[in-house]
Amino acid sequence: MVIRVNTAYVIDNLIKDHDVILESLKVLYKIVNNDNSDARDLEFLIRFFDAFIDKCHHAKEEYILFPSLNLRLFPFEGSPVYVMVTEHGIARYLIRISEELLRMWIDNKDEGARQALIDHLKLLADHLTQHIKKENDVLFPGSLALDTLESSRTIEDIENETGHEKWVMEINELKKKYGIT
Ligand SMILES: [Fe+2]
Ligand SMILES: [Fe+2]
Repeated sequence: MVIRVNTAYVIDNLIKDHDVILESLKVLYKIVNNDNSDARDLEFLIRFFDAFIDKCHHAKEEYILFPSLNLRLFPFEGSPVYVMVTEHGIARYLIRISEELLRMWIDNKDEGARQALIDHLKLLADHLTQHIKKENDVLFPGSLALDTLESSRTIEDIENETGHEKWVMEINELKKKYGIT
């Protein structure tokens, strides 16, 4: 069943996610700029990026916000949504190659893989930072031209499926460990 949801409510929720993601990147930068990088914390962050960013946050954008923009504001091809979806794909790939490099480093004791992992995580952090800026500064304000969005899924559906609240709490714990307030 397709329901109507308030656009401002959705945008507010997505911006709060961006804040959580940017906080997680502060922790990531702190770890990757430290030669004694903790493998368990990097493993946790990569699982967070997959679950919270790819499966939850990007799913909310791609199921709830973007289709209404394409159907009612501008066609997909060459649109800002086209760019955002392409960037989600790049983020997903950087998360996956990071998962592979983490395994090579931890399971095979491959020090070269550790350095490659750090390099790819820095690319991911920079990519996500500029992606979030484009959404916050351009796409989201433009989306408010629509009062409502139509979707078969709600914010709550996707958050419940992906353990959203648990991830927010766990990132807060990790921030404390690294002295980020
Ligand atoms: Fe996005
Ligand atoms: Fe986003």
